[in-house]
Amino acid sequence: MSQTEQQRARYRVQPAERVQGEITVPGDKSISHRALMLGGIARGDTEIEGFLAGEDCLATLRALATLGVRIERPLPDRVIVHGEGPEALRGAAVPLDMGNAGTAIRLIMGLLSGQSFDSILIGDASLMRRPMERVAAPLRLMGARIETTDGKPPVHVRACPGLTAIDYTLPVASAQVKSAILLAALSARGRTRVVEPAPTRDHTERMLGAFGVSVWRSGVAGSDRWPMAITLEGGQPLIGAPVRVPGDFSSAAFFLVAGCLAADRGLVLRNVGVNPTRTGLLRLLKQMGADIRIHPPAHPAAHPDAELVADLEVHRSALKGITVPLELVALAIDEFPVFFIAASCAAGTTVLEGAQELRVKESDRLGGMAAGLKALGVHHELLPDGIRIEGGAGFSGGTIDSLGDHRIAMAFAVASLKASGPIEILDVANVATSFPGFIETARTAGLVLEAL
Ligand code: S3P
Repeated sequence: MSQTEQQRARYRVQPAERVQGEITVPGDKSISHRALMLGGIARGDTEIEGFLAGEDCLATLRALATLGVRIERPLPDRVIVHGEGPEALRGAAVPLDMGNAGTAIRLIMGLLSGQSFDSILIGDASLMRRPMERVAAPLRLMGARIETTDGKPPVHVRACPGLTAIDYTLPVASAQVKSAILLAALSARGRTRVVEPAPTRDHTERMLGAFGVSVWRSGVAGSDRWPMAITLEGGQPLIGAPVRVPGDFSSAAFFLVAGCLAADRGLVLRNVGVNPTRTGLLRLLKQMGADIRIHPPAHPAAHPDAELVADLEVHRSALKGITVPLELVALAIDEFPVFFIAASCAAGTTVLEGAQELRVKESDRLGGMAAGLKALGVHHELLPDGIRIEGGAGFSGGTIDSLGDHRIAMAFAVASLKASGPIEILDVANVATSFPGFIETARTAGLVLEAL
């Protein structure tokens, strides 16, 4: 699809009164990327079930295949990676195109930085604007030879004779930076320690354990609380392992908010990943008064590092505005677009601060959401690192520019449950990066959505 064709794709969403029934959401994006990458440097087969067949993860899959990893995909959501160890990777004659995927480009920088060949990493217009020095800088401290272009892609990862372990405190709470360092640490000489100031998603640490790598986690101050140090000894081999990917909590988020706004008889989301480092939105919605019930599986996984999964049942709730606690910002970072929709429908004021990271996601999500809220008549004040929303009045109809950001597009589709007129959402093709089948799932739940 050309860039103009892509920008032309749009949704028209009519006001709807109710959502209900049972839905499932596609596999977790963060876990699918990691399963492919760890499988690609492991020895032996990695069978991935529940793989997210979205454009972001397909970009990772194609990049690994270009680097010489043999990958089969017998079903859209079933992938088998035939790993032959990191030394089997070989340089690509072409730049690796990571599409819209920030996680893919940053993690693969870590994976490639100790290799004996050069690589060039590029992406779509959004990815080419995103900051890469936050990953390049610590990798350089390990000895990697990386050049960014004014801090952004194209990123050149040069052949490197060998990496050395580092002790590094993350300046921003970022799972992508943490994971890139851990991936590089696998091939580094010595013991790498990464200190994270606040909790961020821990899928990499959990999955490394499943692939036979010992990772230690302990509180820096001798407690089991943050700041937390993650330590890994270089040179440990990875052994291919089965990965069962749960439904993506970030995709479920749209329907959790939809359920709070309009599930008179309840809406059930089956098989959703509820790793506590991902579910900040659950805690925020509960603080707002949401009626969300968590049903753990009858036979939970025995391994302590396994990803937690649950069915979530949500009912229409009278929400009230809150001030977002700072410690929940990183744990809900991808869910703020749809959280702002919930806040717009809650009685009173909601305030978010300390979320400047939202400015450098697939789009400037603070600016993009504020413009959309304005178009739909929601009173708010945009802050440099957050937003203040005066909720309770619902939405008018209107036209929204999603800026090509999948999460902004889906968030405004949910707004139709409290809208007085149709909402047209522009530039929605990137919904396919994280949520293939969104239209069908949204219609099953009760949204009245057409693709134009
Ligand atoms: C992700 C980490 C987060 C998140 C992104 C996925 C990951 O980014 O926003 O969508 O899979 O590690 P940051 O690490 O930049 O916060």
